[in-house]
Amino acid sequence: MIKISPSILSADFANLERDIRKISTADYVHVDVMDGVFVPNITIGLPVVKAIRPATPLPLDVHLMIVQPGRYAAQFCDAGADIVTMHVESDTEANLRDAIERVHAKGKRAGVVVKPGTPAEAVLPYIRDVEMILVMTVEPGFGGQSFLSDQMIKVRAIRKLINEQNPVCELEVDGGVAPDTFRACIDAGANVLVAGSAVYKAPDIPARIRLLRG
Ligand code: DX5
Ligand code: ZN
Repeated sequence: MIKISPSILSADFANLERDIRKISTADYVHVDVMDGVFVPNITIGLPVVKAIRPATPLPLDVHLMIVQPGRYAAQFCDAGADIVTMHVESDTEANLRDAIERVHAKGKRAGVVVKPGTPAEAVLPYIRDVEMILVMTVEPGFGGQSFLSDQMIKVRAIRKLINEQNPVCELEVDGGVAPDTFRACIDAGANVLVAGSAVYKAPDIPARIRLLRG
């Protein structure tokens, strides 16, 4: 069963509650946190996660694109995150292990993320300890970019590693997922699809979510 995690980066920030209600048939709500350092953009932070928490019963899938994410991991859990994913490029292995433990100590799910230039093997130190691995299919930083189909090789490789080492771990893809690209992600072994513009720009959002489930 494929899960859909619409990214509210493509929502109307002046009407977030309304726009979160529009995706009530999805599985997760994807929240892109950017610090202007790890990526060249600044988006949502702790107060917004806290504010949207009561607006939906869906799990909040919080994607941290910030340096040294362990500094804030527990605070994002307290603010209402259910899943906290952190980039393998954003800190040392020791600090990321510590960050994953902080999320687990809060009773929440933790995940690691790899940028397009990062090899599949970069998830190996964490794969047995996380509930989600996220493969970026665009360079992180902005919504509405084109899907990088060459990342499907990595999705396949990580699917194999997950099946061998931690079969309950979810495999998510993020960036440029749309009606013409989602099938490749599912075929490569992803089970959670993030989609921002493809969901929010659709004339019929529930129909678009249904379509992306395959
Ligand atoms: C990009 C973000 C994505 C983005 C996806 O850095 O991590 O979640 O919102 O947007 P689309 O689906 O429009 O590529
Ligand atoms: Zn994201």
